[in-house]
Amino acid sequence: MSDRHPMTGNRMSADEAAGVHGFERHTHDVVVIGAGGAGLRAAIAAHEAGAKTAIVCKSLLGKAHTVMAEGGIAAAMGNRWPEDNWEVHFRDTMRGGKMLNNWRMAQLHAQEAPERVQELEDWGALFDRTEDGLISQRDFGGHRYARLAHVGDRTGLEMIRTLQQRAVALGIDVFMECTITELLKDGDKISGAFGYWRETGRFVTFEAPSVILATGGIGKSFKVTSNSWEYTGDGHALALRAGASLINMEFVQFHPTGMVWPPSVKGLLVTESVRGDGGILRNSEGKRFMFDYIPEFFKKETADTEEEADRWYDDKKNNRRPPELLPRDEVARAINSEIKAGRGSPHGGIFLDIASRRDPEYIRKRLPSMYHQFKELADVDITAEPMEIGPTCHYVMGGVEVDPDTEESSVTGLYAVGECSGGMHGSNRLGGNSLSDLLVFGRRAGEAAAAYASGLGEERPYVDPQVVLAAQDPALAAFEREGGTENPYTVQQDLQQTMNDLVGIIRKAEELSASLEEIEKFKQRADQVVVEGHRQFNPGWHLSIDLRNMLLVSECIAKAALAREESRGGHTRDDFPKPSEEWGAKNLVLRLNAAGTGVDLSEQPLPVMPDELKTFFEER
Ligand code: FUM
Repeated sequence: MSDRHPMTGNRMSADEAAGVHGFERHTHDVVVIGAGGAGLRAAIAAHEAGAKTAIVCKSLLGKAHTVMAEGGIAAAMGNRWPEDNWEVHFRDTMRGGKMLNNWRMAQLHAQEAPERVQELEDWGALFDRTEDGLISQRDFGGHRYARLAHVGDRTGLEMIRTLQQRAVALGIDVFMECTITELLKDGDKISGAFGYWRETGRFVTFEAPSVILATGGIGKSFKVTSNSWEYTGDGHALALRAGASLINMEFVQFHPTGMVWPPSVKGLLVTESVRGDGGILRNSEGKRFMFDYIPEFFKKETADTEEEADRWYDDKKNNRRPPELLPRDEVARAINSEIKAGRGSPHGGIFLDIASRRDPEYIRKRLPSMYHQFKELADVDITAEPMEIGPTCHYVMGGVEVDPDTEESSVTGLYAVGECSGGMHGSNRLGGNSLSDLLVFGRRAGEAAAAYASGLGEERPYVDPQVVLAAQDPALAAFEREGGTENPYTVQQDLQQTMNDLVGIIRKAEELSASLEEIEKFKQRADQVVVEGHRQFNPGWHLSIDLRNMLLVSECIAKAALAREESRGGHTRDDFPKPSEEWGAKNLVLRLNAAGTGVDLSEQPLPVMPDELKTFFEER
């Protein structure tokens, strides 16, 4: 246990240590960690349920990966196609996840998404409209009908704007630029969270019986990613260290279309809306190659001629979907194969062409952000020429194992929502399902966390000052190491390269084993990281703390990927190229090992879907 003063860093006597009341503390019923769509929606729900609620976020309020879900919110509102309903959405979601999804989460998601979108509009979101004045809905991969409620290609941004405005108007406490490094527990119950202010480096404790993790994903463990600096798997790692379990960690989504040029923006997202609105993929020979990559699983619903694919936009009843709108895992693999076969674009990507398919006015109206993004960053006019794109690490399907109705983890008082939770998307997420996921389960988690806190009355878990003091040690380690030789940036860079090269889109046993050996070495190197200077805004120090999380989640991904000997969704094994029935019936579960130095893996059967839901998958 540390005997250092949390603010000065000086050694304290035992008496001093026992009474560190100069230490900043806040007390709430519900603390939400993360301020993307899931965190904001959860906080609003908790507040409206009467809980004293705080949002704590590592970055500025409103700066979240949610904005990278550009194309829309998937919800079966039936505004364009009255045939659409929750049952079709449920079926599409399960098939997109190759049936590994938690069926109950997929059911709740499909049933509740339309109401959550409507509510967002009631709170001021300005959606694009149909000719009849309804919320406009666009096509996306894997969705049977045009189902994505959208605001041009800036839907995530509009969602964040709306939720943020509401959270602020409700008076919810917001703590920005504050990173949580540990969850606090009283016995087996959550009692709060411990972290530091990024600007001053001072420590702060949040006391609360309910903590909701909404920290997003893990993309920063990979070299090419659409994620920004915040996404270091914090919620995943905090949950593991608090005793919760993770599932589905082997499933990482490589979005098929990220920018490949110029190098400074490599990985930046190019929304799926480009394909949803008619864009097609071509290789260096000018071939529309996706027709060569239609998998058996989706043969019945995918057009196999250009004529049929093109007719589908106007007549979905008599035609099948274009192959560019297969689920993302299929499209990313196909692009990867074309590039590997030497049919890529000059900068190592493939061509995405909407210019030859839609007129400039339509493109600028439907895809304003993409128009500006390419014009300003790559000097490409997408109304006149094709874009160069390639896969980019975008999303992790895996996350904290939660109860589907309440989002509570196996640790009492600890909830997880959005990307840092697992189960909902199975092995592959359909585009647009993340925004609806975070609205549906954000609300559910907020309500459940508030109900739990209020049910406790005066019997709240206790925050032991000694536990708080001990929480400083790992955070300060990089300052205190003598003879340390490593720089946190170098370790991070090497980890990203390893994950990209050995745990990427196509995997094999030898490479996955090698990645695990590398991760062990990175852990040893991370133990040698030293940072200079002091605690006032010190990004190197911040990264030394984040590295611990990145290494833990990277180990989870690599370990689960090595164990799963089949290919399914966002997990492709070169040495086991097909899905297997046996693996299709189980999840891999990860828990912190007894020494706290890594993770243990076990298998668990999938929850059994009730018969009435199984009928949705019958021929109709
Ligand atoms: O392509 C996109 O607009 C991303 C959407 C999503 O990840 O859901």
